[in-house]
Amino acid sequence: MEFMEVVRRRRSIRKYRPDPIPQAKLDHILEAARLAPSWGNGQCWTFVVVTDTKLRHELGEAGNTWIADAPVIIAACADPKHSGVKEDQDYYLLDIGIAMEHLVLAAADQGLGTCWIGRFDEARAKKALGVPGNVRVVALTPVGYPDEEPEPRPRKTLGEIVCKDRWA
Ligand SMILES: Cc1cc2nc3c(=O)[nH]c(=O)nc-3n(C[C@H](O)[C@H](O)[C@H](O)COP(=O)(O)O)c2cc1C
Repeated sequence: MEFMEVVRRRRSIRKYRPDPIPQAKLDHILEAARLAPSWGNGQCWTFVVVTDTKLRHELGEAGNTWIADAPVIIAACADPKHSGVKEDQDYYLLDIGIAMEHLVLAAADQGLGTCWIGRFDEARAKKALGVPGNVRVVALTPVGYPDEEPEPRPRKTLGEIVCKDRWA
């Protein structure tokens, strides 16, 4: 798909078909994440690809039970010591944000649905996946073939979000 078409077509998908994802498609979206830019090229991320049914349900129990219906859940984890801090802003969050958006857009291009999950019990997710103490689980996303076609959610206009030269 042409780039802007991918951007326009992507939706947060909250209903999935159980069909498995071909390994080549999974590798493709992980490769897109791997190529993301990061603070000092620190690449602070580890992506835990969860297909085990019990583990998917445990991740669902961390806040969003419906994500267990997707055949794959990806947990985007960060080791903050491989990223930076600027004036109290932790950049590992941004590194993960960029890498995950690469992954999410690549998934949309492959006809796969995803949904950023930010609200979940991190301690539960860490315990389920055996993530070490110093590593943060920043986001989860289910990945699978969509079983819904949501309408686009509203967006502000460019006029509302862009100013010229100075804040206005
Ligand atoms: C950082 C971030 C965290 C999010 N967390 C959740 C979440 O915990 N649960 C959920 O259902 N959707 C979550 N979303 C999805 C948003 O609700 C969704 O992107 C927004 O409503 C716009 O809809 P769209 O993605 O279909 O364009 C999150 C999105 C982002 C970018």
